[in-house]
Amino acid sequence: MKMDVLLGLQWGDEGKGKIVDVLTPEYLNVARFQGGPNAGHTLEFNGQKHVLHLIPSGIFNQDTTNIIGNGVVLDPVVFTQEVHKLIKAGVDVFEKLVISRKVHLILPTHRVLDAAQEKAKGNLKIGSTLRGIGPAYTDKVARQGLRIGDIESDNFKEKYEILRNIHLASLEGIKVELNMEEVERLWFEGIELLKRFQFIDGEYFVNQAMDKGESILAEGAQGTLLDIDFGSYPFVTSSNTVCAGACTGLGVAPGRIGEIYGIFKAYCTRVGSGPFPTELDDDIGQLLRDQGQEYGSTTGRPRRCGWLDLVALKYTVMLNGVTKLIMTKADVFTDIESIKVASSYVVNGELTDQFPFDSIASCQPVYTELPGWKIDISDLRSKDQLPRELSSYIRFIEKFIGVPITIVSVGPDREATILM
Ligand code: GDP
Ligand code: IMO
Ligand code: MG
Repeated sequence: MKMDVLLGLQWGDEGKGKIVDVLTPEYLNVARFQGGPNAGHTLEFNGQKHVLHLIPSGIFNQDTTNIIGNGVVLDPVVFTQEVHKLIKAGVDVFEKLVISRKVHLILPTHRVLDAAQEKAKGNLKIGSTLRGIGPAYTDKVARQGLRIGDIESDNFKEKYEILRNIHLASLEGIKVELNMEEVERLWFEGIELLKRFQFIDGEYFVNQAMDKGESILAEGAQGTLLDIDFGSYPFVTSSNTVCAGACTGLGVAPGRIGEIYGIFKAYCTRVGSGPFPTELDDDIGQLLRDQGQEYGSTTGRPRRCGWLDLVALKYTVMLNGVTKLIMTKADVFTDIESIKVASSYVVNGELTDQFPFDSIASCQPVYTELPGWKIDISDLRSKDQLPRELSSYIRFIEKFIGVPITIVSVGPDREATILM
C-alpha cells in the first residue's frame, strides 16, 4: 500500500481540515508531517465547528488512527487545550492518537524568541503566528532541540533547563514580559498529559502499516507558497510544506507515495506579510473576505484576499507532483459578475509564466476574465447541478494546469462537497 498526501497549494487555509475530514473514512491512518500550532484546520459537521492545530483532522472518525509525525513541532500547552476540547466533544483521543518520539517540542521560551525576533525585524516582519515555530525548527537544525522521546529519559528536566538557559542567554538585554514560573507550570502539566499517549517510532509505525496493507493519508499544514525553500522567502514558515516534506516528516520513501491531492481556493488568500501579486485592495477583496469569512483560524487576523493566481498554482502543482486537484470556496463568488485569474506575469517589463525569484513584489499579473455564476451554489451536491459558468471555470483551470479537479467544495460543512 502507498501513502496518499493532501497539501495546500497556496498560502495556507485552503480548506485542508475540511477535506481531510471528508476523505478520512477511506483511510485507516491520518498523519501530520510538518508544521505545528501555527496551523488552524477547521472541520464542520452536525452543526458543530472544530478547529485543530496539532492533531490530525482524521480524529473524528471512529476507525482512524491519527499520527503526529516526526516533522511536526509540538507545544504541550496548545496540545493540552486541544485534547481537552476533543474529550469534551466525546472523542476518545487517548485511544486514537499516537505521537512520534522524534517530534520536537516547543518550549515557552521559543514563543518569546519568536516575538523578540519579529519585533526586531520592524517593517520586514513576517507576520508570524508567534507560536514559536521558527525558533523550534531553528533548534532542531542547530541540533539542540528537545524531543518527545526525551520525555522518557531520566534527565528530561535537566535537558529542558539547558535549552531554556540557552534561550534566556540569547534574550539578555531584551525586555521580556513573562511569568516564567506560571508558563513552566503549564508546560510541565502538558508534558504529564503527553505521557498518557502512546509514543511511537513513527517511521516503523507508518511503514509497517503500509506493509500490512493499511491506507494512510498524510495531511499537510500551511501551503506550498509558505514552504521554507520554495515559498516567498523570507515571508514563509520554517518547514517543507511540499510533498517531499511528507517523506522526511514521516519517514516514508518517495516511491511509496501514491495520490497527491493538491487543494486550492477558487481565489487566493494570505495572512501575514509578504508578496501577493493578485491581492485586491478594493470592494471585491472586501467582499471575498466577508463572504468567505476570511479571518485566521489560529490568530483571528483578517486574511488578505485576491484573484486566483494560475502562475503560482502551476508552480506549486509542479513542485508537489499533484495528481488530483481539489477546489474549495467556489460558493464565495456568488455575487461577482466577472472573475479574473492571473495567467501570466510581467516582471521587469517582460512577460513570463514562471514564478520569479525575488521580484514577485513588483510583478504585475496579466489577467484572463471569465464570467461569474451569480447564483448561490452552496446547496448543490452533484456535478450535474453546477452552473454552466462554474463548469467553464473548472475546465479553464484544468486545461491551464493539466491536472483534473476531482472535488469541488461549496461550503464549510462536510456535506457541502461535490465529487467530480
Ligand atoms: P485549512 O488551514 O486549510 O484547514 O483551512 P482553514 O480551516 O484555516 O480555513 C478554511 C475556512 O474555510 C474554514 O473556516 C472552513 O470552514 C471554510 N471552508 C472550507 N471549505 C469551504 C468551502 O468550500 N466554502 C466555504 N464557504 N467555506 C469553506
Ligand atoms: P494552515 O495549516 C495560513 C503564515 C503566518 C506567517 C508565516 C510564518 O492553517 O493552513 P509562522 O507562525 O510559521 O512563523 O508564520 O506563515 N502561516 C499560515 N498562514 N495558514 C497557516 O496554516 C499558516 N501557518 C503559518 O501567517 O505569514
Ligand atoms: Mg488554517
